[in-house]
Amino acid sequence: MNTRTAPAWSPELEARYAPLAAQLERLIPCMEVPLHLPWIDAINTLKQERGAVIMAHNYQSPEIFYGVADITGDSLALAQQAATCGSDIVVMCGVHFMAESVKVLAPDKTVLIPDMEAGCSLAASITAADVLALRAKHPGIPVVTYVNTSAAVKAVSDSCCTSANAVQVVESVAAEHGVKQVIFLPDRYLGAWVAQQTQLDLILWQGACEVHERFTGIEARHAREQFDAKIVAHPECPPDVLAEADFVGSTTAMGKWLEKAKPERVAMITECSMADNLRNEFPQVEFIKPCNLCPYMKKITLPKIHAVLSDLSNEVVVAPEDIVGARRSLDRMLAVGRRDRV
Ligand code: 13P
Ligand code: SF4
Repeated sequence: MNTRTAPAWSPELEARYAPLAAQLERLIPCMEVPLHLPWIDAINTLKQERGAVIMAHNYQSPEIFYGVADITGDSLALAQQAATCGSDIVVMCGVHFMAESVKVLAPDKTVLIPDMEAGCSLAASITAADVLALRAKHPGIPVVTYVNTSAAVKAVSDSCCTSANAVQVVESVAAEHGVKQVIFLPDRYLGAWVAQQTQLDLILWQGACEVHERFTGIEARHAREQFDAKIVAHPECPPDVLAEADFVGSTTAMGKWLEKAKPERVAMITECSMADNLRNEFPQVEFIKPCNLCPYMKKITLPKIHAVLSDLSNEVVVAPEDIVGARRSLDRMLAVGRRDRV
């Protein structure tokens, strides 16, 4: 089969995938489902032949998240499972820094990304040279780096963190260095949110997520007042959004909060697919979607996953000189683990 043309649809395929089709029809436009099923079947067949594992971030579209992924989760969960997943080939359905983290934590694995252009505005906002310049300006002050950065930036940092453990990582790194100041990068909004929860003084880089920075406090208030919705927001949102939120946390923590709080109606102030994927797990909850798409996450599609699995293309490579330092920073974060307060 040509890997770039759609595999054939058949009634047999429809019958075999009936439960998945019924699930997807509740999450995406129903007309799209018959277009996805042949690709899902072809990918699952090829995945087995290759002995590959497909990882998908919580922002991946439902046809990927529920159709082909073996491992799903937030940035922390994907990093935690990188080395232990029992396969030599990993396809990362997420953005480039996530694929790099898998490669750093499991350098012997072949890590493929369906689209090399799946970047991140936060990762693009800072280079290793910028970090070295900050270190020269603030000698002796440790650097904590959000995982949404390149391996080269991680390599010159003291520790990574994710939104699931940022406060605890910052505090443990400060204690280890015996200091009251920490350089935190690159997300100024996540940094401001962490700063509110600690006595430490944070020196922030002025990066932002181009998806979350577009949300406003007015939008969040409108959702609460007009729809009587609870507000759940990602900490990459600006402070006026977070001030309106009933819960702020990582993409995985959002699901845990829904489980605990059992709201009737919720506005998910984050990437669009998050609400679509959670709708499957929480059919009793009504989701209001102030919807901003991540253009990078959305570069990942079923045909592109099929293409990289077919020809083992788009292999993610990390420079050997960055692997050791980035590994140290990621391991320092993994030692802290998940600390979401739900
Ligand atoms: P999480 O670590 O919460 O999954 O967030 C990653 C991300 O890129 C959010 O925009
Ligand atoms: Fe990066 Fe924002 Fe997209 Fe997350 S949502 S991958 S932070 S651009």
